[in-house]
Amino acid sequence: MGTLDGRIALVTGAGRGLGRATALLFAREGADVAAVDIDPTSAKETAEHVLSLGRRSAAIVADLSDAALAAGAVAEAVDRLGRLDILVNAAAVLDVEPLLAVTPAAWDRAFAVNARGLFFTLQAAARVMARQGGGGRIINITSPASRLPAPLLTVYAATKAAVDSVTRAAAVTLAEHRITVNSIAPGRMETPMTERLDGGIAALSGRSFAEVHAERARAIPLGRRAEPEEVAQAALWLAGPAAGYVTGCRVNVSGGLEVD
Ligand SMILES: NC(=O)c1ccc[n+]([C@@H]2O[C@H](COP(=O)([O-])OP(=O)(O)OC[C@H]3O[C@@H](n4cnc5c(N)ncnc54)[C@H](O)[C@@H]3O)[C@@H](O)[C@H]2O)c1
Repeated sequence: MGTLDGRIALVTGAGRGLGRATALLFAREGADVAAVDIDPTSAKETAEHVLSLGRRSAAIVADLSDAALAAGAVAEAVDRLGRLDILVNAAAVLDVEPLLAVTPAAWDRAFAVNARGLFFTLQAAARVMARQGGGGRIINITSPASRLPAPLLTVYAATKAAVDSVTRAAAVTLAEHRITVNSIAPGRMETPMTERLDGGIAALSGRSFAEVHAERARAIPLGRRAEPEEVAQAALWLAGPAAGYVTGCRVNVSGGLEVD
């Protein structure tokens, strides 16, 4: 018996990193999973891995920055898997740029994926859940950057502040449909996004990637980055029966990087 037996989940950004770890953990816990990503190859790999765990899956390719494609991805998941019980919004992009160098195009792209894409995926999923008679779990991935001054991540941090705001509003609004809406703030994980971030910091500071990467791990009170599976465990809790009365909550899985 798994925590999510018989549940149907859609995970965005499921091709790699936290999205993939969440898709696979959910499948191990009994869920069927729609793996949505802009990258066809990695979406397919995740979906095949879900199948190998004995669950049904659907690889769905969509650029979620397009609201119509985001709604289309949700519709396709329901079409192929039958219904929708859980949404995890993990897809995001990140640029490392000093505030004075940010361009309007970079601002627009980050908001299009991280905020608009997340919102219209959430809206489409919530419509489906409400139509099914209510009940459902929505989990948005935010970041400690949404609350901290982030000199090289001004735009990314602003998109995550938008995610926090959407999470609060949706939690209150969708409660009448018994849909819970929560977020997870991972600190620093071992994923391709982190490599991009540490690589960007290294390039801007003229230091080596290895030096920056090690220094940023040491700065975490627990002394290391999280494996994405450790953060996925928080998503499993929020998606499972133990968290039925939890909504509007921001779960901090940051190894002490952020403290309440
Ligand atoms: N890596 C960290 O340390 C860290 C820290 C805090 C928060 N987060 C957040 O966790 C989540 C997962 O991060 P990650 O480290 O696994 O990132 P990642 O870059 O490794 O993976 C992101 C995935 O999203 C997909 N994606 C990007 N743009 C898309 C689009 N337009 N449409 C559909 N899919 C798209 C990518 O193809 C990729 O598979 C993100 O929301 C990120 O902001 C990450």
